[in-house]
Amino acid sequence: MNPRLLLGIVSAAALVALAAPRAKSNPKPASANPPPLAYTPRPANTLTFSKDVAPVLFQNCASCHRAGEVAPFALTSYADAAKRAKTIADVVEKRAMPPWKAAPGPAYVDECRLTDDQIGLIKQWTAEGAKEGNPADLPALPKFPDGWRNGEPDLVLEMPEPFTVPAEGRDIYQNFVIPTSFTEDKWLSAVEIHPGNRRVVHHVLVHLDVSGKARELDAKDPGPGYRTWGGVGFPSAGQIGGWAPGNVARRQPDGIGVNLPKNADIVLQVHYNLNGKPETDRTKVGLYFAKAPVDKRARLFPLASRINIPAGDADYRVTSSMPVPSDVTLRSVMPHMHLLGRDMRVFATLPDGTELPLVHVPDWDFNWQMGYAFKEPVKLPRGSKVTLEARYDNSAANPRNPNSPPKPVRWGEQTTDEMCLAYLNFTVDAESLTQGKTVPSITDYLRKAGEARKKKQDN
Ligand code: HEC
Repeated sequence: MNPRLLLGIVSAAALVALAAPRAKSNPKPASANPPPLAYTPRPANTLTFSKDVAPVLFQNCASCHRAGEVAPFALTSYADAAKRAKTIADVVEKRAMPPWKAAPGPAYVDECRLTDDQIGLIKQWTAEGAKEGNPADLPALPKFPDGWRNGEPDLVLEMPEPFTVPAEGRDIYQNFVIPTSFTEDKWLSAVEIHPGNRRVVHHVLVHLDVSGKARELDAKDPGPGYRTWGGVGFPSAGQIGGWAPGNVARRQPDGIGVNLPKNADIVLQVHYNLNGKPETDRTKVGLYFAKAPVDKRARLFPLASRINIPAGDADYRVTSSMPVPSDVTLRSVMPHMHLLGRDMRVFATLPDGTELPLVHVPDWDFNWQMGYAFKEPVKLPRGSKVTLEARYDNSAANPRNPNSPPKPVRWGEQTTDEMCLAYLNFTVDAESLTQGKTVPSITDYLRKAGEARKKKQDN
């Protein structure tokens, strides 16, 4: 397990990280007490930080809990851990930390969950006075890379000029257009984003524009970039990357690439938080070209459901499914809802009726949105079906409800609106670009199927 990649487990094509653990986690709706732990206590008073607890914290927490990272304090020394031992025991028992939201399911890349034994051990150590033990027993801290996580990019693009974020007002979605001017299509294996100013950059999405529309919007809007509220204002030719705190772009496996059409403009959409004083930002994007020949294109499909959540409804449920029109290999899935979302489950049904769980987030938290990449990519034959089921709580009793009293909530870009999406990242089995075998755009096919389905749902 490599927890530093925790949030970055969606491959470049599927990276749509939208929210950030910037503020403290939202108040948590009441949930049942944690189930009893499968833990055999160690002999009394033998557990020490150096020998027993540090290995757990260094492996599972220090990726975020160290200087310069997203968490508010470090957990890299005895002093760090000892003074908050009780809180640590509490958050690990509730499984609030590490922030891994998926229930156990198929094995995921970089899965970051403590075992019952590790949790029991931290609890016992805390209860017995959080002893240090012999510092000579301390394991080495894992090596955390600085700078570009994927190494020096092949090409670094940056916002054409710095953007000044005002001190006050409402959040800003600013879009910056960066021309690429390649004269031929390129294949990317990763897109890594370096936010210029972490105090105000909440999240970043990277879109492609081949229509020229983004440039027009930019020309019409004074100052750097152009403002939208949520959307990008043009028909995106694809989303190729994203960033939220803690998020690390991962390279596609050899043979799989994200297509960058010639002459495309890269449009960086940056969501800025305002923090009470003016700040400037100049965010960078690193492009990594595929080194090995690309045989298959990384594709992304948003499986969505219409939503129309009545005010006060504590248990609003929707289901949406789509047919799989040809043999595909699913590589990751990323659920997305806003503040009222409570639970999302995504599963596949094979042609013989077998159900394959893909992901289940039983306690949705807007602050921790992650993509889940399968250790073993999931083969879905033609005729399978992918289904999402989601549940929302729009009652006054939900402490995360942004409206008091509750209001009817529909689909929309603002955080206080809702969404219901699972981004599916896949490749098409019949495609072999190295052998000249192309496939009709399955994404278009699926989108049409999705639109037809939505129409039906609306009627
Ligand atoms: C992916 C990054 C990440 C990882 C991994 C992570 N944390 Fe955190 N942690 C955060 C952030 C960000 C916060 C502050 C926001 C919040 O509370 O959600 C936080 C907050 C905390 C808090 C304060 C909670 C409170 O209510 O005051 C504790 C204690 C904590 N983490 C312990 C741990 C422990 C122990 C681990 C490992 C077992 C761990 N964290 C792993 C990012 C992380």
